Formats: sequence, C-alpha cells, structure tokens
Amino acid sequence: MCGIVGAVAQRNVVPILLEGLQRLEYRGYDSAGLVVVHDGKLERVRSTGRVVDLTEKSATTQGHIGIAHTRWATHGVPSERNAHPHISKNHIAVVHNGIIENYEELRSRLTTAGYEFTSDTDTEVIAHLIHSHYAHGTSLLAATQASLTELVGAYAIGVIAADNPDQLICARRGSPLLLGVGIDEHFIASDVSALLPVTRKVVYLEEGDVVELGRLAYQIFDATGARVERAVQTSEMSNESVQLGEYTHYMQKEIHEQPQALADTLESVCNSQSLVPGIFGAEAAATFADINSILILACGTSHHAGLVAKFWLEEIAGITCNVEIASEYRYRTSVPNPKSLVVVISQSGETADTQAALNHAKSLGHGHTLAICNVAESALVRLCKLRMLTRAGPEIGVASTKAFTTQLAALFLLTLVLAKQRGRLTAEQEQQHLHELRHLPSAVQKVLELEPQIAMLAVKFANKHNALFLGRGLHYPIALEGALKLKEISYIHAEAYPAGELKHGPLALVDKDMPVISVAPNDALLEKLKSNLQEVRARGGELYVFADANTHIHAADGIHIMQMPEHAGYLSPILHTIPLQLLAYYVALQKGTDVDKPRNLAKSVTVE
Ligand code: G6P
Repeated sequence: MCGIVGAVAQRNVVPILLEGLQRLEYRGYDSAGLVVVHDGKLERVRSTGRVVDLTEKSATTQGHIGIAHTRWATHGVPSERNAHPHISKNHIAVVHNGIIENYEELRSRLTTAGYEFTSDTDTEVIAHLIHSHYAHGTSLLAATQASLTELVGAYAIGVIAADNPDQLICARRGSPLLLGVGIDEHFIASDVSALLPVTRKVVYLEEGDVVELGRLAYQIFDATGARVERAVQTSEMSNESVQLGEYTHYMQKEIHEQPQALADTLESVCNSQSLVPGIFGAEAAATFADINSILILACGTSHHAGLVAKFWLEEIAGITCNVEIASEYRYRTSVPNPKSLVVVISQSGETADTQAALNHAKSLGHGHTLAICNVAESALVRLCKLRMLTRAGPEIGVASTKAFTTQLAALFLLTLVLAKQRGRLTAEQEQQHLHELRHLPSAVQKVLELEPQIAMLAVKFANKHNALFLGRGLHYPIALEGALKLKEISYIHAEAYPAGELKHGPLALVDKDMPVISVAPNDALLEKLKSNLQEVRARGGELYVFADANTHIHAADGIHIMQMPEHAGYLSPILHTIPLQLLAYYVALQKGTDVDKPRNLAKSVTVE
C-alpha cells in the first residue's frame, strides 16, 4: 500500500507529483504529502485529506526536485504528523512504502544519538538513519546504501537532501518501484500509471536495487552494490484507461468494462480452433504433464476466484485442487507435494501475503508455479515459471470487479487445457466450450442491462444493517464475492453461506429485517436451493433471487426476482457475479459512501 512518486527535472515538478499522487491514490488515501528543494531548503506540505486537499495547500510550492506520497496507515494513526515525507534535521526527506520491522530498536538507538522523533511512523527512522550517515560526510547515495543494510523489512523509498538539488535516491526491497525516463528529466513511481502524463519509458527495478537519479542521468546498483544496467521498457498502458470518462465512479466504469476485458483476456484462445498449453508459457506442456494436483494461493477476491476454479478443475479436469488463503498458508505446516502446480492469483501481482505464500511454497520444494495476474511486470509474474495474464486493464476501484471475472476466464482456460491434456475433453466438447467462451462477452453485456432494475432494488437496502448471501456449489464462491462487495463499499455487514448450511446456524438470524440474496442458476442443485429459499420465506425473511430463465421461481410477497437472461452452464458464475457487483455499487450510492475508496481499505495490500 502507499503510493510514491518523485521527480528531478528542469521544470517545476509539483504538478507532476500531484498528478502522480492522484493516480496512485487507490494504493492508500488517508493522508498525502510532498517535499521539494527550494533555495537550498526543504519545503514540505502535508494534508490528512485527499490529494485534492494537498493540491490546494501546495498552490504556491515550487521546486525542480521533489518526492511525494499517499498513505495507507500502518504505524501511527492517519494524521498530518504521521503523513510522509518525513524529514530529519531539516535536511533529509524520505517517502516510504512498506514496513520496517526493526524500527523500535532503531528508534531508541537514534533517540539516544540525539534525533528527535516527530511522528509515530516506522518511516521516520529511515530519514534519521540516512542523516546520521550523511552527516559524516558520505554521499547521499552511500548514506542511503549504508542505512539500508540496517533495515529489516520491506521498503520502496525516495530520498532527497536540502543541499543536493539535482540528486534523488531511491531503493526497493519487497515493495514495488520503477523509474521513468524522460528527456533530461527522471522520475520514480510505485506504478506506471502515475507517470503516463510525463513518460512511457520505464525501468522496473529488481529486489535490492538502489538508484541515483539526476536530471540528465541515472545509475542503478544491485543488492551487492555493483553497477548494473536494467532494460528500459515502453509501457503499453493507455492514458485513457486510467481516466474516469463518462462514469461516476471507477467501480461503475470497471463493471461496464467487463465484456471488453473478457474479450481481451480470451482473445488468443477464441481466435484459434483449439486449446494449447502454450497460453500459460513455453514450459507449460511439460509442467502440466508432470503434475497430479493443484494448489491455489490468493487473497480477497482473487481467493474467491480460486474457490470457483476448484469446482471446475475437479469436475472437468479431474485433478485434485486445494485453495488456500495466502496469509494462512504461509504460516501453517502443510504437506508439500512437489507434483502439485502452485497457482497464485492476483490482480496486482504485488500482494505481500500472496508473494510470501509463493515463496514459502517454493521453499518447501514446489517447483511448478503459475501466476494468473493482471500486471505483466509485477513481482508475482516474475517469480513464477508459468503465467497467464488477465487483460482487464488497470483496475482503480478498490473493490475488484473486472479483475475477478477475467481471473475466472483464465482459470476456466486452465481447466480446459488440463482436461484436454488428461484425456477428459473430446474434440466436440472442446469446440463447445470454445463456442461458449466466444459468446461470453456478449452474455455479460446482456446481464449489464439489468442495471436500472438493480438500481431500483438497491433502495430497499439503504437502511439495512445486515444481509445474507446464499449460493450452492459452483455459485457458493459467488455468494461470498457478493457479500464481500457489499460490505467493502456499503459497510453493510454481509455474510455468505452455502444454502444447505442455513439450518445449521444462520437461519436463527432470519427475520423481516434480514434481506437474503440468493444466486439461483438453473443447474443440478436448483431444486435443493428452492427448498432452502422456502426455509427463509417461512421465517419471514425477504428474498432477493437472481434467477436464470426456466427456474420457475416466481415473484411473490417477500420474494423479489431478478431474471438473468440465460443459463451459461459452467460459465454461469461469471454471469452471476455481475448483478451482485451492481447491487453493491447501487447500495453504496444509496448510502453515500466513497465507492472507489472505501474507508480503511486500499487496493494493493503490499504489507502483511
Ligand atoms: C485487496 C483489494 C481486493 C483484492 C485483494 C487481493 O484487499 O482491495 O480487491 O482482492 O487485495 O489483491 P490482489 O491484487 O492480490 O488480487
């Protein structure tokens, strides 16, 4: 979490920093700040509000070098004194993304050495530490390098000094950071979207890299201190893709982008006549031939995608699949199976727990690894042997939408490829699945037409405090995802249950004030589900049913039906996700919450 941007140029960098922060706000948004060097002095502006507040406060600030930060609080409450940049003795300024684990020990040592702490953050130790080395006459680069050897934890940092108006130092270990290369100007940022207005030429830094940037040149040093060259790449991210356009919120825009995102993700497959392992990487065929099970590791919404995939993989491909929450897996004693394919699923490719879980799996001897990810240059993609990129485009809204449905599409492809390789897919079935995949974007488009109806339905939720989501089988994870969306952005407490579990506890909660939302596809479990719905109705619960055609569930007093246009077979979870996303969105609008930046959350969780 937290976003960093920095610049060294011949022009005033403050507008560049502010625009960059605005684009990084999805990473954290409880406070923001920037610092520039002006007339040999550090000038800092900080604000507890959003970047717009910082923009107002920095109207007269100017400088040719500066660093800026948007924060998601870890150590110390969101407040101006805890907002970055942190400064040591009016001389060294630092912005930081990550967590310094040994900060207490460093803080007491630096306090004894005479440094005065003005915040509760872990970051402030970095500023004082660099100052302590810099004060002894070493260069800013050497002072930063020396300080980094004393830090335990994760960081991406930007550093400037009052007496050094043409030198910006940055470093990364465990948190993302890249360089932007302009014409006689250089930049740093947590992700490329922040730099699109100024450059597309970027250098992705490796773990342990430290960089010295001037206006005209930069030098990269690797973890051992050796000078290294890293490739300059041209980002293909389009500037429009991070603009809101005609929509009110990014979440609404991203919900509507799903047909295109799915079409893009499935493009190579849908344009060919057969499925090949190569879509997961050159070594995929050999790897898939060597595996006997799947282990999926992920967090949040990505974990829900994994739960759907388990049904597909076991039923269609006949391969055992376990799905684990990454933050749990990394700390438990599990039984490793080197013949298992470890699949990490992540929108950002940065999530700290998912990365740690992958590294843990590798340390246990898991050599077969596959990343399903939306960010091509991310750490997770680089850490895995195989990859399948979802092509959802940048997802800005904190609540994940198009990333989820494209992850499902990628996981369905994995299922089909494995099924084929394992002799469980006839040529005819393969063609049938390809046909359904080609049809998927337009099927999703049809579901989106339910938007006005769902907007009306959402009014009924405005005063609710709780909601129950029900699903069965393949659609139970969709109920989980629907509940997660609702609680994330509308702050209504929501829980999901497999409908068969109702009578084992949650039925006790059902009364007239408890809306019960049910995913009702026309599948083999439909009749069972109908009985579960009767149980709710008999207790006075208000039912909201998203029902496929021909389910014969009829609207009645206390039963509201949303008719889904068609039943999509195995792809049904993708279609059934859409109305639940829309419901959460419109309920949040009713409640007047900050849809794209819900309280206490952040998009990329790069801390444990
Ligand atoms: C955060 C986001 C979620 C996301 C989760 C995992 O909690 O708010 O939307 O599902 O992180 O992120 P990842 O990038 O690994 O998919």
